[in-house]
Amino acid sequence: MDIIDAIRSRKSIRGYKPDPVPKEILREILDIAIRTPSTLNAQPWEITVVSGEVLDNIRWGNIEMLNSGATPEPETTSKPFEGKYRQRQVELAIQIFNLMGIAREDKEKRAEWMQRGLRFFDAPAAFILSMDKSLDESTLNLLDIGAMTQTICLAALHYGLGTCINDQGIMFPEVVRRFTHIPESKRMVICIAIGYPDWDFPANKLESKREPVDNIVTWCGGA
Ligand SMILES: Cc1cc2nc3c(=O)[nH]c(=O)nc-3n(C[C@H](O)[C@H](O)[C@H](O)COP(=O)(O)O)c2cc1C
Repeated sequence: MDIIDAIRSRKSIRGYKPDPVPKEILREILDIAIRTPSTLNAQPWEITVVSGEVLDNIRWGNIEMLNSGATPEPETTSKPFEGKYRQRQVELAIQIFNLMGIAREDKEKRAEWMQRGLRFFDAPAAFILSMDKSLDESTLNLLDIGAMTQTICLAALHYGLGTCINDQGIMFPEVVRRFTHIPESKRMVICIAIGYPDWDFPANKLESKREPVDNIVTWCGGA
């Protein structure tokens, strides 16, 4: 796939076919993605690949935690969005709920949607990206993990795979640790659900919006 086509066609996939992804393919994707650039070539990423019964155990562990009323304790956080950022978040939720036929007041279906995220969107596999806690949780290290994340998502397209970057799957780190033994010395930063897209799944039809270039760019200096 042409690189421009890949960038333009990548989208978050929130519904997957049950077919497993061969380990060799997951490995090849990572073998490509390790070419991601990083600050001073520090390569802060560490990746745990989860699938099969381990992933199932994490899914059900997450749901159990949610149902028990436990407070999520993600190891990377961000302030709640305000202003235009909040507006974009709301627009995204409206788009998804419309496609999924979830009414604003339908608490049950909204809760079921939340659970879907905690179940890694029922994907057959996921990558969990961590970094050593000795590393400063500075913008630069996180930027490197972000670059790795996008590289994985783009490389996955070459194999007909879809992805959804998400923090929902690792909202309860103690559940993930219980089944993967990721040590306490590592910070779980983000995860990526991966699998073959179910194109009939309504939310996969979502075309998320973008602010046009002219609204985000400032040109300084002549040609
Ligand atoms: C750091 C990060 C965290 C995200 N977390 C979630 C998540 O927890 N659940 C979810 O459904 N999507 C999540 N997403 C996907 C975004 O909602 C999505 O990238 C955005 O709406 C743009 O849509 P697109 O990926 O289809 O282009 C996340 C994306 C990023 C980059």
